[in-house]
Order: sequence, then C-alpha cells, then structure tokens
Amino acid sequence: MRQFIVVSHTAKITPDFSLNDLPGDGGRMDILCRCVGASLLTSHAIRPNVRIYLLLQDQITIRIESSKTRYLHPDERCIAALIKKALEKAADAVGQIEIKSTPGIYISKRNLRSLLTSIDPGATFIYLNEDGFPSQKFTFPSEPVFILSDHHNFSSSELDILKEYAQTAINLGPVSLHADQAITIVHNLLDVQNA
Ligand SMILES: C[S@@+](CC[C@H](N)C(=O)[O-])C[C@H]1O[C@@H](n2cnc3c(N)ncnc32)[C@H](O)[C@@H]1O
Repeated sequence: MRQFIVVSHTAKITPDFSLNDLPGDGGRMDILCRCVGASLLTSHAIRPNVRIYLLLQDQITIRIESSKTRYLHPDERCIAALIKKALEKAADAVGQIEIKSTPGIYISKRNLRSLLTSIDPGATFIYLNEDGFPSQKFTFPSEPVFILSDHHNFSSSELDILKEYAQTAINLGPVSLHADQAITIVHNLLDVQNA
C-alpha cells in the first residue's frame, strides 16, 4: 500500500468554511483537496491501495481509503465537501479513536506524533524535503508512507518528530513543487519502479 500524510498548518478544523473560498476561508483547504485528488485519482479511475492522511493544525487527522471511498470526484469543491462532512463529526471523536464520516473517510483527534505512532510498524516513513536524498538514486520500499508539508516548510519541532520516525528524507529535484505535484511525481516514480 502507498500512504501519504499531508501536514497542513492552516486548514480549518471546523466545518464552518465556505466551499466557494477554500484558499481564504478554508485556510488553504484547496491544497489538501488537490493532494487528495493527486494521491487517490487517475484519469477516470481511483488508484487501488492508497491511503492519505490529512493532518490539520496538529489536532485533527482525516484518513481517506482509496478502496472504500464513494462520491469522490476530481474537483476541489467535491473533495472539500467530503472533508467538511468529516469535520462535522469531529466533535463526536473522543481521544484518538476514529469516527467514520462517509464511506472510506474517518476522522480522529490525532496530532503528528500520535498519527505516526498509530501507523503499521511494517511501513517505511519517508518525508519529502527539498534538501533530502536524491529520489533518482533511491530504491523505494514496498510499504512507503510519504510525509509532505503544505505551502509552509515543516517546522523545526515537526522535523524533530519526523527524524525520530522517518528513515529517509527524499528530494524530488531542484525545483520547489506544490505538495500535490510532489505526490504525482512520487506515484510516477513508484509506477515506473514497479512496472
Ligand atoms: C510548497 S512545498 C513547501 C514550501 C516550500 N518549501 C517553500 O519554500 O515555499 C510543499 C511540500 O512539497 C514537498 N516538496 C516540494 N518540492 C519538493 C522537492 N523538490 N523535493 C521534495 N519534496 C518537495 C515538500 O514536502 C514540501 O514541504
């Protein structure tokens, strides 16, 4: 399985944002929506065996399973509506226990450390960073968990936690990309490696 964690520093953790203003009122919710699309969708299909976690302001984690989702379309507004529905359930979430929102979408009150701790120990954590090891020289493991940041760099406290869990930091090239673009490249590298 391919897994992605997108760390959002600004996205709203309450459902009271306008679907008409995802960048402003949503606190750059548009970035998360594009990451969901890039990780789970291909042309006319959903990628099998992909999971994405959205970590919002180090307080709320939304998990989306490609094999179980329904009603997922590529437009940001549709994806944002599913995130909004999940956030409506957040008040019912107790501790780190997940609550199901819509099919394949779950919400919990997890922070970065509790999220990383909850992931299957057989997985290999890799965070994507512009000063990491060159991806061209890297052999990807079979159960990778890629960790990306939003429009901000990882904070120093996040990097401290990541270094405890992640075996490697990978750089995808000399150009600073949007997080969803980085996800597309990672999928492509893995598709080629596994072809
Ligand atoms: C828009 S970038 C983060 C902010 C960016 N560093 C800046 O200065 O504006 C979003 C995320 O995509 C990933 N990313 C972007 N370009 C990358 C690259 N060349 N190599 C590895 N990861 C990259 C990283 O996880 C990064 O945190």
